[in-house]
Amino acid sequence: MLCVIIYLMKLTNLEILTYLSQKPIGKGTEAITYNADKYVLRMPIHIKNNAQFKKNLMNNVYKYKKAQNVHGRKNFGQAIYNFIDESKSQIVLSVCKKVTGFQTNDLVEPPLTKRKITAAQQNAIKKMKIIASMPIKSFERLIEDLNHLTHTDFTIDPSEGNLLLNPESKKFYIIDLRPVKKIRNIGDLILLLLTDIPDIPDNSEYYDLELKIITKLIHAAKSCGLTHPEQLKLKPRALEVIKSPQARNMYKNNYRNIKII
Ligand SMILES: Nc1ncnc2c1ncn2[C@@H]1O[C@H](COP(=O)(O)OP(=O)(O)OP(=O)(O)O)[C@@H](O)[C@H]1O
Ligand SMILES: [Mg+2]
Repeated sequence: MLCVIIYLMKLTNLEILTYLSQKPIGKGTEAITYNADKYVLRMPIHIKNNAQFKKNLMNNVYKYKKAQNVHGRKNFGQAIYNFIDESKSQIVLSVCKKVTGFQTNDLVEPPLTKRKITAAQQNAIKKMKIIASMPIKSFERLIEDLNHLTHTDFTIDPSEGNLLLNPESKKFYIIDLRPVKKIRNIGDLILLLLTDIPDIPDNSEYYDLELKIITKLIHAAKSCGLTHPEQLKLKPRALEVIKSPQARNMYKNNYRNIKII
């Protein structure tokens, strides 16, 4: 009940301007994300956060529009309401549900020195230890979210930083959904859980953690079942990201045997 009330409370324009003047928490190809206490603000990348924007917001030039509630009480960091520039029929700012957690993986970009690869591997191991220690229930919730999305016109973007984990509540949160109808599968969840580090050196600790994570994910998928036959597709890209033969085999030997409910 309390969270419903919180989500119904609108930020004032002044509060929004204050949050927009702070350092963003995320900067990507689609949007810039700002912290806003119980929410986050997302501004499409092509919108300029400048004096004119601020003036327009304060003068109520942008139209407030409540977003359709497609996901019920689930939290995908989705928009609760938007500000629209009606002259251009475009969203200029979204006020979104906030997710608390750390990114389960990171983008490891070239140029990749040996040192950079080792650092990325150590960073990934730190995260994988926490991910692998989560109970099966956490992975089952993730599968339920994947299943929920098959009934919507939204899809996962399986790129880095789009899955957060809150170790206190033991919940995974998929964020950055795309407004597109596309069925995603277990392989896409693997892409969200693991970091893609090319030419990674052999490391038994890394391999063990990978195997634990993939085993829990497969176990959860088997206990929940999937809702769409297309979810049983092999994702070759996931096979590239999984480095240990054991974990790769765990995925390869099981993805087809998950029941459709
Ligand atoms: N609803 C949210 N709650 C908490 N943090 C968020 C939320 N949305 C985004 N973030 C933070 O901002 C980062 C970037 O946001 P997001 O992934 O949504 O878009 P993007 O990375 O800009 O887009 P792209 O994935 O196309 O590059 C996230 O990895 C996360 O750390
Ligand atoms: Mg993203």
